Amino acid sequence: MTSNTRKSLEGLVAAEHRHLDALFGEILLDLRRGGEGAAAQDAFARLRDQLEAHLAREDRLYYPALRALRPAHREPIAAIVAAHDVFRSQLAQIESSLAIGAKDAALRAVELLASLFATHEVAEEQMLQKIDQEVVAEGMPSAG
Ligand SMILES: [Fe+2]
Ligand SMILES: [Fe+2]
Repeated sequence: MTSNTRKSLEGLVAAEHRHLDALFGEILLDLRRGGEGAAAQDAFARLRDQLEAHLAREDRLYYPALRALRPAHREPIAAIVAAHDVFRSQLAQIESSLAIGAKDAALRAVELLASLFATHEVAEEQMLQKIDQEVVAEGMPSAG
């Protein structure tokens, strides 16, 4: 992987995060409106699919490459990846609440997940920025 590729990985992850932020915004709006549930179920299905796909890309694609390239960052990467399983179980919990029509419980669980995920996004983006800065400081040649 070149430094250009790493730089674009940071941008790619950040763009995926902003898309997920928008999906969190949609489901929170639907749940807070307290409508008859179909809109919230649809918004949740979109969020769950996109969030699970994002976590899978990070687990299987982005972070294995980064671990191989930047062994010094293995520990923070491991902590970040461990949090992904917590998010997956929170998604399953929200799905159960929505399935039985427990909208208040679903809203509280989505609020908690949105808050924890926002903190996670900041940590990831900071880590990726730091790695980019190190690469620049080391003066690695650009492929560009
Ligand atoms: Fe992540
Ligand atoms: Fe992420």
